[in-house]
Amino acid sequence: MTTSELIGVFDSGVGGLTVAERLQEALPALSFIYYGDTAHVPYGDREAKEVVGLIDKICRHLLQSGAQALVMACNTSSALAYEHVLSWSPRPVIGIIAEAAEAAAQATREGKVGIMANPLTAASGAYERELVRQAERHELGCVEGKAIGCPRLVPFIERGEVEGPAVEEALRAYWQPLERWGADTLILGCTHYPFLRPVLSKLVGPEVTIIDPAYYVAKRLQSLGLGNGAGQRQISYQVSGDPQDFARVGAQLLGRPLEPVIQVKL
Ligand code: DGL
Repeated sequence: MTTSELIGVFDSGVGGLTVAERLQEALPALSFIYYGDTAHVPYGDREAKEVVGLIDKICRHLLQSGAQALVMACNTSSALAYEHVLSWSPRPVIGIIAEAAEAAAQATREGKVGIMANPLTAASGAYERELVRQAERHELGCVEGKAIGCPRLVPFIERGEVEGPAVEEALRAYWQPLERWGADTLILGCTHYPFLRPVLSKLVGPEVTIIDPAYYVAKRLQSLGLGNGAGQRQISYQVSGDPQDFARVGAQLLGRPLEPVIQVKL
């Protein structure tokens, strides 16, 4: 049996599954190995230097496992470690920030893009800088970004809690300053957040364009031209924490079983 070309995808936990789903839909001939660093989730509460070290190890592991390209299904990784991994990786590396910022800069009507992200991504300023760069690149006029750190959201999702009064209250508290500021476009700046989209969409209303970066990341992977060879498609999941927890919450969020899930400590 030959395995089709393998892509390494990773996140701190279940969030990157929102990206992996889009990648599988867009590129059905590719195989994927998904690494969830669940022993260290949430990244958003850690020091930037520590997170870069964790990402470095994950990327080396995925390449050693045969990955032909790496997809950072994690905004924090893209914000803090994209340039670093790009500097040594022999294979293509796809981030999230540039793809999402380009889509948001093109979507905004008033040039005001809100970003919900974890505290590390928000503090990095990566989205604000990239929005300005993309607006200049596409000659779109003035586009501003405003990022809000949302530390309460990832723990909800890692527990499989994606609705209910506590989730609504947290989302409202994070959205309000962006709404007051006048955001007409909202980037889901953490790959966990698309699981909250049904609640969030109701809260922000139809006038606000929500950008889920996963679609643009999938397009970028398509542009590499991989996945043309024959072979049997495979998807496997590895985690640094408890594989049963990941399989249970992942299956609950995606509505289908996730297997195999094994523990791989790096
Ligand atoms: N899902 C990741 C992101 O997109 C990381 C979230 C976290 O662990 O704080 O940034």
